[in-house]
Formats: sequence, C-alpha cells, structure tokens
Amino acid sequence: MYSLIRPLLFTLDAERSHNLTLGLLRAAYRLPGAPALAHRCYAGRIPPLPVDVMGLCFPNPLGLAAGLDKDARCLAPLQDFGFGFIELGTVTTQPQPGNPKPRLFRLTHHAALINRMGFNSSGLDVFLANLAAQPRRGLVGINLGKNKLTPDSRAIDDYLTGLRAVYAHADYVTLNVSSPNTPGLRALQDEAPLTALLAALKNEQTILTRTHDRRVPIALKIAPDLDDIGIDAIARLLVEHNMEAVIATNTTITRPGLAQEPLARESGGLSGPPLRAASTQVIRRLHATLQGRIPIIGVGGISNADYACEKLVAGADLIQLYTAFIYRGPGVVGEIVRGLAEKVRAHGATNMAEALRRARTI
Ligand code: FNR
Repeated sequence: MYSLIRPLLFTLDAERSHNLTLGLLRAAYRLPGAPALAHRCYAGRIPPLPVDVMGLCFPNPLGLAAGLDKDARCLAPLQDFGFGFIELGTVTTQPQPGNPKPRLFRLTHHAALINRMGFNSSGLDVFLANLAAQPRRGLVGINLGKNKLTPDSRAIDDYLTGLRAVYAHADYVTLNVSSPNTPGLRALQDEAPLTALLAALKNEQTILTRTHDRRVPIALKIAPDLDDIGIDAIARLLVEHNMEAVIATNTTITRPGLAQEPLARESGGLSGPPLRAASTQVIRRLHATLQGRIPIIGVGGISNADYACEKLVAGADLIQLYTAFIYRGPGVVGEIVRGLAEKVRAHGATNMAEALRRARTI
C-alpha cells in the first residue's frame, strides 16, 4: 500500500509530505473500521517478542524514535503499526516554530534524511491535550527538549518543567541533549552541565515518585559524534546518577560516504543508513563500559532485521527507527520484528534475552 502512495508523496517537499501523511493517517483513522483494518494488516501480524527493560514489559523490542510525532497528534494510528513502543516529542516547554523552511531534505539515493527542524513544537500544553484526546494501547516514551530562547544557564529548568508536566502520562521520559539543531544543546553532554542536569532530574524524579506513587524511568539521548573519552564520561555519569536508560543515538553532523551527494552540504542532522555504523559504534562502546548495568536503546540506520540484530548484538536492549519508516512505510515494522523472531528461533532460544546472551558470547 505504502509503495503505491510513496512516489506521490516523494514528489512533494519533504516536510509537506510528512505533514500530509500524518494528516491522512489521522483522517483515515476516523473512518469506521479503519483502526481494526490497520490493526489486522499490521500490529495483528506481528509475533510477540517480549523484552523486559527499565522495569517495563515491551511486547517487542522495536520502537518508533522521537521526532516523527513531535506534538502527539498521531499516537492512535501509530499504535496500530505494531511498534513495541512509541517515543513522542521532542516537546519543548513553550511553543516555538523551529528553524526557517526548508529544513528537511531527502537524500533518496542513500535512503537518508537531513533535518534541521530545530524543535518545532506546539509546547507542553497542546502536547498533553493531544495525548489526552487519544486512546492508549501501548508503551509511550515522552522526549523532552529545551526552548531555543531559554538561556543555557536555565536549561535545567526546561527539563524540570517538562518532567513534572509529562510524568503522569509517560511510561518513560527521555532527556534529549543531542539534537544538533538547537544552539548549545549538545554542550549539555559535557561533564559539568550533564552532572548538574542528571542530579536535578533524578532528584525531581524521587519527589514525583512519591507524589504519583509510581517511578517513571528516565533515559538520556546522546549524539553519535562523541569520541570514546566523551562516551566513557557519559557512561560513568549515567551509572553515578542511577539513570534508567541511554538512547544511542541522535542524528549526526558528519556526512559519511556522502561526498558525491549535493544535498549533504545542507546543515543539520543526518539519519538513515549513513548513520548506522557510527551509532552502532557508540552502542558497542557504551556496552563495553556499562556491562549491562544500564539498558541501551539503539537507534540509527536500522532498516531491516539484520541491522536491528547488529544493534542488539552490539549491546542494545531495545531499538528504534525513524528514517526507514519514511522510506519503507509501516510494513517495515512487521518485517523487522518477524525477522528478529526468526533469528531468536535460529539460535535455539525461546526468548530474546536468551538469544542475545548466546549471540553476544559468540
Ligand atoms: C529526528 N530525531 C529526533 N530525535 C529526538 O530526540 N527528538 C526530535 O525531535 C527528533 N526529530 C527528528 C526529526 C527528523 C526529521 C528526523 C529524521 C530525526 C532523531 C531520531 O529520533 C533518530 O535518533 C535518528 O533519526 C536516527 O534514527 P534513524 O532515523 O536513522 O532510524
């Protein structure tokens, strides 16, 4: 189905076609029988492949990465595609328009994207109203960012405000300090500001746990453009602050293998296959340092079951994708989860955790 409409969508500017697709999804979802049909065609055909991570039971390890549904407008239809979880956002405290257009580019020959959206967000109030208006049928992460106009010295306040606002509505919360499109954001990955951020957010989590009688896990999302010393320093802080997960990685500001691609000169974060190796390398390094103490959510260039498996064997406990969903449509979810289920069986294992233990020791 998606292969029929994709050529049409790809004739439009990338951001227009993105918005049109989400609008069509929402409209189609309201048609009588449509949710049941979508469920039958997609989620209903996905084998169970449960994994326990962050104290949550995920029906399968493949999630939708942040950025596709920034304002929580499309949760209901997205849930029928069979993802094991969906990460909404990045949402900023106050509404903000993001960067001037054009700000999203398709590198079609490489099945990749470059974006410099700059956290276009309707803000927390609209985000939460959108979320409340939709049925919830699975696990939902909420990804928090900082407003461009918030001075770097007040960045922590934005994340604290975000955590308090979304706490009751999230299965886990992500602190996004790795978008390349908000000036100064990635500096929050440096040791001193990251220490202050994690200390403040974990302290607030303790207070909120008491108020809500529920502990919502917090993950940190990091960039692929860190060197080993930077990754090790972050890993140490994650352990020191008892973080519940790390998401590796966001988009890259590098342009690997794209010397001949004119659009590669556009500034912004690159995603899709050219990002794959760098993000897997970060996962491998994190895994070597963390030794299983903190779960890793692996993301970057996953477009099939082999690449999903590559991330899992490198150390990821869960995985996410975004760009492959744009190029391949919702069918890619079932294809990957079915492929992973086959690999689990091929390892002679009965579940994902057992298969990974075996694969990682080979
Ligand atoms: C993103 N990504 C992203 N990440 C995030 O934490 N917050 C965000 O708002 C966004 N926005 C966003 C917009 C667009 C257009 C793209 C392509 C990506 C990054 C995304 O979640 C993921 O980390 C990377 O895209 C790498 O995964 P894929 O796309 O290679 O599967």
